Formats: sequence, C-alpha cells, structure tokens
Amino acid sequence: MPDRDGRSCPFAAGALHSAPPVPSSVVSIRNVKKRFGSFEALAGVDLEIEQGEIFGLLGPNGAGKTTLISIVAGLLRASEGEVRVLGRDVVTDYRFTRSALGLVPQEINFDPFFTVEESLRIQAGYFGVRLSEERLVEILTALDLLAKRRANTRALSGGMKRRLLIGKALVHEPRVVFLDEPTAGVDVELRQALWRYVRVLRARGTTIVLTTHYLEEAEELADRVGVIDRGRLLVVEDKKALLRRHAGKTLRATLAAPLALLPPQLAALGARLEDGGRTIALSVEPGASFGPALAAFAQAGLSVQDVETTRMRLEEVFVRLLRGDRAADVAAARTGAP
Ligand SMILES: Nc1ncnc2c1ncn2[C@@H]1O[C@H](COP(=O)(O)OP(=O)(O)O)[C@@H](O)[C@H]1O
Ligand SMILES: [Mg+2]
Repeated sequence: MPDRDGRSCPFAAGALHSAPPVPSSVVSIRNVKKRFGSFEALAGVDLEIEQGEIFGLLGPNGAGKTTLISIVAGLLRASEGEVRVLGRDVVTDYRFTRSALGLVPQEINFDPFFTVEESLRIQAGYFGVRLSEERLVEILTALDLLAKRRANTRALSGGMKRRLLIGKALVHEPRVVFLDEPTAGVDVELRQALWRYVRVLRARGTTIVLTTHYLEEAEELADRVGVIDRGRLLVVEDKKALLRRHAGKTLRATLAAPLALLPPQLAALGARLEDGGRTIALSVEPGASFGPALAAFAQAGLSVQDVETTRMRLEEVFVRLLRGDRAADVAAARTGAP
C-alpha cells in the first residue's frame, strides 16, 4: 500500500525526479519516544504540523517540549519512532530537513567575537545562502536591531540577544520556524513586536511552531495548540474549538438595587451574590447556555442594569487539563490499572 508521501507507490520513483510529492503536513511526528538512561522524556508522541499554521506547544517545565523540538531539528536522536520534515526523514535526510527549518533555541548561545551583521552572515553561510543587503535590513528592522548592526554581540542586552537568535533562525528563509520559548525574559513591548513579525512570516506561508508557557501568547497567536505533560500529548486541537469545549462561561448581572438574598430560582441554578449584593454571578459548563439564567432573572422580576459575560482563558483550560491528567494517573495507580 502506498504511504502518505507515496514512497512505496510504483509511480513515485519517476515522480521524485520531476515533481516531488507534496506532503500533506510539514512536520510529521510518529510515535516518537526519547529515553535518557532509564528516564522516559517522550513517551510516544504523534503530531502533524500543517502547512502555514501557527502551532502552540504548551506544557509545564520538563514536559518534553525542547526534547521534541531538538529531535525534529536533528540535534537529538529519537530512541524510537520517526520524524519527517516536508516528507523527508530527519535522520537519513538531515541536510535537507535541517535547511528546511529555522530553530530559535531556548538557551542563548553566541560566539561573542562577531558583530550582529557578521553573526547573521555566518549563519546564512552555514546554509549556503548569501544574505542580500535587502534581506539583512529587513530582518534587522523587524527585530529592531538595525541600530546594532555593527555592535559586537557581547554588547547586546538579553532581549537583543534573543532577537538576534530569532534573526539567525530566519536568514535562510526556512519553511518551518521553531521558536522555543522565545520571549522568556523579553519585555511586553518587544513581545508584541515579535508576535507581529511572527504573523508576517505566517502570512508569507511560513509554518510556525511555538513553545511557550505564557499562555496568553498561545491564546493570541496559535491556530492550534497541543498540550504536553510528562512526555505525552494530552490534547491537540484547534484553539477555538478547545476553548469552546473546555472553557466554561460566567455571566455577571449588575442590579439596579442591591439584594440581601438571592431569589430561589437563581440559587437553584448555582448563582451567587457578589459586590455586596449588587451583582449576581453565574457560571455555566462549557457548551451550556445562559437561557435558564435569563428566564430566572425575568421570573424573579429583577431590574438588571448591566450584563457582562466572560469566557475561561486558555490558562485555566490548560491547568484543568493537567490536573485531569494527573488525577487520572492517581486513580489508575489506586485501581492498579495501567
Ligand atoms: N540530556 C538530558 N539528559 C537527561 N535528561 C534530560 C536531558 N534533556 C532533557 N532531560 C529531561 O527530560 C525532560 C524534558 O525536558 P525538556 O524537553 O527540556 O522539557 P521542557 O522543554 O518542556 O521544559 C526533563 O525531565 C529533563 O530533565
Ligand atoms: Mg524547554
């Protein structure tokens, strides 16, 4: 049977010489395991990253995010499983796959003897790319480093060094960019500028994989998110669908006159009084409607001045998913189930 990229298809050999088969996903991760001695850092990860998306990989410290990215970038070898970038194996076709991707590492590491410009030119050279003046200026401008073009990398602040790392990952115009916690220690303003640039890259068709523990970033930027914990992907889902499915809503109604006691119809729905009786708050489960609550307000004859609804943030959903995962493990340990 032909596999996804048609390698075992009898017609594929000819096709390889003319138009290579277009893989459906940019990065394909199949049952990847990674052991460090007896410690299992990745316990069988399956993940497909689609062309042109911003994928947010979320997980607490030590979850396995950097390990996974390092395997895709060919810096680490998986103990088991297979990773393909643009349909090519990251181990047997390392040169091709490495040049297809740009990696912004979590750790800052520079050769301190070069200027910003030299550093970018040398990096481009690794990939056999001659960096044009135009492209150099574009990168430096986007990362707000133009004024530091001739500065020694030693003389850069932490935030500037991080931006230069991003520039280095982009010099060869990779199809996929991995950003491993790129905004750790970066101030809010710069973070916003970086996200704007990430969107520009995406608009040009670049695929972006972002790991972060700043959930508001993933919430703002990502099209899809994956939550990883202790080497296992708990969920991979469209961000909006994930929020719809897991995020409850809260309605807050400000009353014309404060109440001493909650009307029974509302108490029965689990509503609560806040703000000295001036506000009635009511939370519903994901997917539930406020219909019954609104009917109860009418029935109780309450005069409502203002209504506000809020949806749970990704951060709360994330915390719930992790808590659920760990609770499931505890339960399994109790019953002796695997
Ligand atoms: N080279 C290594 N040797 C041993 N353990 C490692 C090594 N690299 C990572 N680990 C362990 O693997 C787990 C996942 O690490 P990492 O992928 O860096 O997590 P994250 O990036 O999600 O914070 C951690 O428990 C970490 O201590
Ligand atoms: Mg990490």
